[in-house]
Amino acid sequence: MASRRVGVIGAGYVGLTSAACLAHLGHDVVCVEKETSKVDLLAAGVVPIAEPRLEELVRQGLANGRLRFTTTRERLASAEVVLLCLPTPMGRDGAADLYALESIMPTLASILAPGCVLVTKSTVPVGTAGRIAELLRRPDVPVVSNPEFLREGHAVQDFLSPDRIVVGSAAPEAATRVAELYTGTKAPVLRTGTASAELAKYASNAFLAMKLSYVNVLAELCERVGADITDVSRTMGLDERIGPLFLVPGPGWGGSCLPKDTSALLNAADAAGVDFELLRATVRANARQQAMIVRKIRDAVAGSSAGSLQGIRIGLLGLTFKAGTDDLRDSPAIAIAEELAAQGALLTAYDPRVPATGNRGLPRIHVVDDPYLVAKDAVAVVLLTEWPEFRELDWAQLAAVTDRAVVIDTRNLLTDETLGGTGFTHIGVGTPISADS
Ligand code: UDX
Repeated sequence: MASRRVGVIGAGYVGLTSAACLAHLGHDVVCVEKETSKVDLLAAGVVPIAEPRLEELVRQGLANGRLRFTTTRERLASAEVVLLCLPTPMGRDGAADLYALESIMPTLASILAPGCVLVTKSTVPVGTAGRIAELLRRPDVPVVSNPEFLREGHAVQDFLSPDRIVVGSAAPEAATRVAELYTGTKAPVLRTGTASAELAKYASNAFLAMKLSYVNVLAELCERVGADITDVSRTMGLDERIGPLFLVPGPGWGGSCLPKDTSALLNAADAAGVDFELLRATVRANARQQAMIVRKIRDAVAGSSAGSLQGIRIGLLGLTFKAGTDDLRDSPAIAIAEELAAQGALLTAYDPRVPATGNRGLPRIHVVDDPYLVAKDAVAVVLLTEWPEFRELDWAQLAAVTDRAVVIDTRNLLTDETLGGTGFTHIGVGTPISADS
């Protein structure tokens, strides 16, 4: 494999994972990040995000000299490939905001070496590669789309053992150079035009969101007709055309990607004159799901879905948008907590990745560092994130300190084995209520 000199711009989830993994694959990587404090931490081998194996790979790269961090963009001058890993947040109109990406082009134009390949790695709307090429005004620098498909909590694994790699480019040599960066991973490489690669990323995430909204609405139907979503989704999942993953109902889908990507794809469809009603319904169903969970909680603690939550003490287990991450961005758990607080509930929360100190901008939630404190005097415990350790809690001890032993399990994480004999009433999503008395 040809070892390449690679530049990575941005040391967020995508940039840092890409930089560390490419160094691990044998490339010579310089990662440029504008925040000095972050660069100092990373250069000392400290990774500020919780991502399995990432710190190990960063330290390995620093130790063998294949990975460096800097704030100096000029260090990209010797790179043969430069990966753009800058944030593309949701803008006010729902479209992706490309400011970070576009504003750096004049600087890059003056730095990049002749023949360097510029790669868009962060999720960008269809047409961005062309737009970047226009702004860059460097015909000798081809722009290639090579979107990431990294799940938080599995980013290193997803980078090193991906299901597929898509390389979109009109320039075959540039595409080959980018594809060869991944020699050593065993994934199929799909070569496409830039628009297809850009769209494929949105299409994948929007499809996952659709699958989740589908199963969430199906769960509600299960409750109405006396079916159990666990059995229904297991039956569906054994059909190879459907597959077993992304069929667990929950409090709604969230995180830093699915909400922003569905919104950006809707925006792109609107702009192209395509009525993507299916995707619009997917997003609507997600908002409804959060409202449905709030109603379910009200039903359980206030006796009816119209009952008041004023002054009612509720314990929350989990705040992150899913297990395996410390990320609170667009977390359905937070959205639901905020709504409960707005309706007057008194909230105590525990999350294994959210420290009690500082409260991370959650003024209406009393975050504690002991899960048993969450249950203390609570009228109900609401499980919002599927942390496996919640199964291992001593539920009998939780029952002993609660006001009423009711758990609303929005992730269907707990089983009869976990709760059996504890006295807890278990209210899941799309499953029959089981009262243990
Ligand atoms: C996602 C994509 O999966 C990844 O490929 C992409 O490139 C980045 O965005 P991530 O944001 O880390 O990854 O989250 P993901 O694991 O996809 O979960 C998204 C949401 O769906 C979470 O809120 C999660 O809790 C929820 N979910 C997932 C369910 O409710 N049920 C499931 O069965 C699976």
